[in-house]
This record gives sequence, C-alpha cells and structure tokens, in this order.
Amino acid sequence: MRDNASSSNSGNRRDFLRGSGVAAATAVFTQTAQVGMDEAAAEALAAQGVAVQSGSMKITLQVNGQSMVSEVEPRSTLLDVLRHRLDVTGPKRVCDRSSCGACTILLNGQSIYSCTTLAVAAQGKEIRTLESFDTGPKSVAHAFHQNDGLMCGYCTPGFVTACQALLEKNPNPTLEEVKKGLDGNICRCGTYVGVVQAALDAAKAIKV
Ligand code: FES
Ligand code: FES
Repeated sequence: MRDNASSSNSGNRRDFLRGSGVAAATAVFTQTAQVGMDEAAAEALAAQGVAVQSGSMKITLQVNGQSMVSEVEPRSTLLDVLRHRLDVTGPKRVCDRSSCGACTILLNGQSIYSCTTLAVAAQGKEIRTLESFDTGPKSVAHAFHQNDGLMCGYCTPGFVTACQALLEKNPNPTLEEVKKGLDGNICRCGTYVGVVQAALDAAKAIKV
C-alpha cells in the first residue's frame, strides 16, 4: 500500500482511482476538455447529444522539475504520456488496470497509479518518478540493491516510488507501517522480505 491506499489517510488510492476512472470516462467533450466532471453531468451532456471529442491537445506537465510539453489525446493516460511521449520510462506498465503498482508515480507528493490517471488531469501538478530520487548510496533504490529487493525487476520502480512516498511522509516507519505503506504494490517474484528490509534500511540511511 502507499499513501493514497493508506487507511490512515482521508482518501486512499482506491478512492483516488475511482475518481480517476470517472474522469477517464467523462473527461473530454466538444469545445474544451473538462476533467473531473461527474457521471451525472456527463450523462446530461450525452443526453443533449454532446459528442466525445477526438483528436489531440497540447498539454504541459511538470516532470521531475522540468516543464515538458506534449501533444496528446485527451483520453491518454499519464503512464502512456510519460513513457511514450516524454521518454520518462521509470514507471512500468504491467497490469494496466490499477492492480500491481508498477506504474506508481508521485503526484503532488502522493503515490498514485499512473496507468489509470489521465495525463490532462496531471497538468499544473508536480510529477515525480523514479528518475528523480535514484540518487546514490543513501537512496531508496540503493537500499533495494543492497537487500536483494528485486528479481525480474518489473515491480521495482513502483516499489521504490511507493517507498519514497512512505519515507517522505513517515521518516521513521515501523515494520508494520512499511508493510502497510507498500501494500498497493505486488511482486510476482516474491521479494517482499528484501523490499521491506530495504525500506527500513533506507529510512536509516537517509537520516545519516
Ligand atoms: S500498471 Fe498500473 S497498477 Fe499495474
Ligand atoms: S522482482 Fe519480479 S515482479 Fe517483483
């Protein structure tokens, strides 16, 4: 689990995704893109014969401290835009349906699944990916390496990102808090022991 899945936070990641799903289904109509419209409003517009817009639009995203411009379809997910338009490949596509956590990124400091977040909804927000905090011997990524916290590595960027989010919110997590903080991520290779130890070690290293 991560920040937005934590029961200790007011809105968990599943709730966030439900909101994203609504946005994905209803975001863009003729004239201007509208993100976050609720289903009732979308249905009302559909009843009036307002068609879903196709084509592309220019958006600007703040990614790892850089302003990046891209031409995207309004329905594009943030994961797609990061990986295929902006060449930010830290977040991985595995399940593509909010189940595994491989696509985890930080959006305004909160860990989210980028595979089910619209890129247009991320405009004006701070996006951080693995690339921005893989920063040497005191980094979370280094702790994963030192603790054999990976095998095939598909899940690893998501776990590192979720761990980063956890430690930014809670620099001194207990074992239980680490497990809770990472439980929105799945490792099919079963590296959980190493992952959890890496999180605990990273917490110590960051303080040194
Ligand atoms: S690829 Fe997004 S949660 Fe699995
Ligand atoms: S290391 Fe293979 S899925 Fe986690």
